Amino acid sequence: MRLLIVGGDSQLGSALAAGARGQGWDVVATSRRDGAALPLDLSQPLEQGPVLSSGVDVAVLCAAVAARKLCAEQPELARRVNVDNTVALARRLAAAGVHVLLLSTSLVFDGLRPRMPANSPRHPIDPYGRFKADAETGFQAVAPTGAILRLTKVIGPQTPLFAQWLDTLRAGQPVTAFSDMTMAPISLDLAVSAMMALVAARPSGIFQVSAESDLSYGEAATYLAGRCGRAGLVRVVSALTCGFLPEHLPPYTSLAMDELTALSGLSAPLPRKALDALLGDGANTIRGM
Ligand SMILES: NC(=O)c1ccc[n+]([C@@H]2O[C@H](COP(=O)([O-])OP(=O)(O)OC[C@H]3O[C@@H](n4cnc5c(N)ncnc54)[C@H](OP(=O)(O)O)[C@@H]3O)[C@@H](O)[C@H]2O)c1
Repeated sequence: MRLLIVGGDSQLGSALAAGARGQGWDVVATSRRDGAALPLDLSQPLEQGPVLSSGVDVAVLCAAVAARKLCAEQPELARRVNVDNTVALARRLAAAGVHVLLLSTSLVFDGLRPRMPANSPRHPIDPYGRFKADAETGFQAVAPTGAILRLTKVIGPQTPLFAQWLDTLRAGQPVTAFSDMTMAPISLDLAVSAMMALVAARPSGIFQVSAESDLSYGEAATYLAGRCGRAGLVRVVSALTCGFLPEHLPPYTSLAMDELTALSGLSAPLPRKALDALLGDGANTIRGM
């Protein structure tokens, strides 16, 4: 079976490639970097890119302008990449008989309620969420037999903020984290398991993967500091003091996982599991998160 990963250099795409190869898949991946075997820049007209569907059974669309700040600063570029060309590519792949999986986000919701069911109306509050919500709508129209996987915050060894926190804490330096910005984090391993389950079963519809509840970035940093033996090095502040607007600080990001659980048996872990995975499982796990 051949798997096409669109955006092979992404955190999720590269981890998926490794996981799929480990399970015997033939994996091909696009990249916009120099010398790529399968070059693709989604800011450019698709006609200029390679034919991607030949011999491919399943495609996972990982490439995106994934930084919320960049989506707000460069909305035209972000819409072209995240919506217009992503949907156009999904249309081409689906028309060629490829099963397509689109990666999306909990930020298609406004975050006013926890554990959002997959069939809730979309109500994004920022440009990134709006582009992803529009991509989902377009995707469902052009690839109705495909699937959408919404993920909450994914934490892996290279995830910038968390890797930076750990380096700083281990060096005995303080870190600052927000008390009023929340996440329902999952480990990169769980994200890969969710993607692999959908790649293998090829279902249609919307699936979600999430921790069972939210915690604040301040709580996460404090937990990591405690596990590193650096308790007391975390300064917890309000994001409002750093220029964030209240409407951009919703209390919840968690998603209900019912459809994915029914398909795969995967269930929502405690939020600290993603932090434990970052450190490697050890004896110092702090209870209650
Ligand atoms: N990570 C999370 O916590 C999370 C949570 C929910 C949803 N998601 C979604 O999951 C997907 C993968 O996320 P990620 O965190 O793995 O992403 P990432 O590490 O930020 O990587 C984004 C990828 O998109 C590529 N890209 C950006 N602009 C492009 C363009 N114009 N043409 C082609 N490729 C382009 C980048 O290429 P370069 O490597 O060349 O820059 C990069 O490989 C995204 O759709 C994201 O929105 C992620």
